[in-house]
Amino acid sequence: MANLSVNICGVAFKNPLIAASGTFGFGREYNEIYDISQIGGISTKGMTLQPRLGNPVPRIAEGSGVILNAVGLQNPGVDHFIKYDLPFLKEKGIVIVANVAGKSFDEYGEICAKLNGLVDFVELNISCPNVKAGGMAFGIKPESIEKVTRVAKSSLSKTPLMVKLSPNVESIPVNAQAAERGGADCVSLINTLTGMVIDIERRRPLIANNTGGVSGAGIKPIAVRMVYEAAHAVSIPVIGMGGITCGKDVIEFMMAGAKAVQVGTANFTNANAMPEIIAQTNGWLDAHGIKDINEIIDTVRLNG
Ligand SMILES: Cc1cc2nc3c(=O)[nH]c(=O)nc-3n(C[C@H](O)[C@H](O)[C@H](O)COP(=O)(O)O)c2cc1C
Repeated sequence: MANLSVNICGVAFKNPLIAASGTFGFGREYNEIYDISQIGGISTKGMTLQPRLGNPVPRIAEGSGVILNAVGLQNPGVDHFIKYDLPFLKEKGIVIVANVAGKSFDEYGEICAKLNGLVDFVELNISCPNVKAGGMAFGIKPESIEKVTRVAKSSLSKTPLMVKLSPNVESIPVNAQAAERGGADCVSLINTLTGMVIDIERRRPLIANNTGGVSGAGIKPIAVRMVYEAAHAVSIPVIGMGGITCGKDVIEFMMAGAKAVQVGTANFTNANAMPEIIAQTNGWLDAHGIKDINEIIDTVRLNG
């Protein structure tokens, strides 16, 4: 059994597998299938200041090797999380990452202030529209990434800040550096890629929102490339995700430079995905005589 524990920003993880935001709720349902204390951590469903009902249905469609979703941040609000879900997750002894979303810079600051000191990390979902700036997502332009990071960081004196980067941008390295300048303690990537799936008989998009975020096994090569680029552009830790379904995928992301990974859509196709991926990761390390997973981080060397 290799050492799977990693340390990111002074926070100890028993293994580098974190359940990705929006695919694991607040952990309660999966805990009925297996004891979730086995996983390294959980990133909660994206939380807003007020509860949200989300988008009209259908909100999820399938493609080949991918799914498309436009859930629209359905969540019970940050106060409900603090009162009902946080005590449950604390008992599980896993790293708690609170994924948050705001409609304005101030709202990000307000949500972060509520979570300061209560969770292990706050993860900023910056793929949501800034209502005051005409609906452009906070995570597109480096200037707005730096600003939202700075606002969040100023409310987080006791909790490290993870900024989650969108792949629907001009430059991942430039945006990762903007987060670092704004005071991010680490970055995570990738969020979903914008896509569309059409029902050709009805000649209409399959989901009510018309477009949605693409995730799942099919996006992995894009995610690995972006994780590599981010890891070589900043000096803060990088957490990688996008299409991870097995232990070899974890190794691949970590070789690209990720210090930990998140597993999302795989939880939908196989409810036991995370414990199985942890065992497979360990199996690969054992088969290669590697005693500590930290030894493989950032070890890929480019051809030529
Ligand atoms: C149904 C669904 C809901 C999601 N909700 C959120 C969310 O609330 N906040 C967020 O930052 N990312 C959200 N994501 C993005 C995932 O956390 C992850 O970045 C993305 O799915 C890529 O990883 P995967 O291919 O392993 O799923 C969601 C993804 C899915 C499929």
